[in-house]
Amino acid sequence: MLEDIDRVLLTEEEIKERVAELGAEISRDYAGKDLVLICILKGALHFMADLSRHISIPVDMDFMAISSYGASTKSSGEVRILQDLDAPIANRHVLIVEDIVDSGLTLKYLVDNLSSRRPASLKIATLLDKPARRVVPITTDYNGFQIPDEFVVGYGLDYAEKYRNLPFIGILKPEVYK
Ligand code: IMP
Ligand code: MG
Repeated sequence: MLEDIDRVLLTEEEIKERVAELGAEISRDYAGKDLVLICILKGALHFMADLSRHISIPVDMDFMAISSYGASTKSSGEVRILQDLDAPIANRHVLIVEDIVDSGLTLKYLVDNLSSRRPASLKIATLLDKPARRVVPITTDYNGFQIPDEFVVGYGLDYAEKYRNLPFIGILKPEVYK
């Protein structure tokens, strides 16, 4: 697996520190509020697990599985819900927990979809942001790292379902997906 990685972009230690900061920020901002974290599977699995452990206020967690890519490195813009939330979110404060904003198409779809369920508020926490590739405008509220226009894997992010279990975020060698 390591032989497919060109270089490490974010180390385990750097991710850990930044996720702790985001958790502290979220704990302050939502103090006294009824907060639901929505993990977007599968990519945000590790981020959700670590972030939630740095949030010091009570939270509910729910999960939504969507598919946008297939085995490609570009978003088609067509998002499918594979698994929906367990519970309604009406009148609750909702924070979407996502791995990466690339074109923004997936989040645009999610924001439209979840807004229609009338939450008290809806915000976005993303571990990574690749602004160079944005197709639709998306404002994120909590943002771990801005990264260059490279295809990255690890810490939940995959290429064709592989590499999610790397503990760091690395740039995949282009010959792996070309
Ligand atoms: P968007 O719809 O183009 O913003 O893509 C968002 C989704 O594409 C993310 O939730 C990821 O699952 C996937 N994605 C985008 N960029 C990367 C990448 O560099 N590595 C792995 N997955 C990515
Ligand atoms: Mg993915």
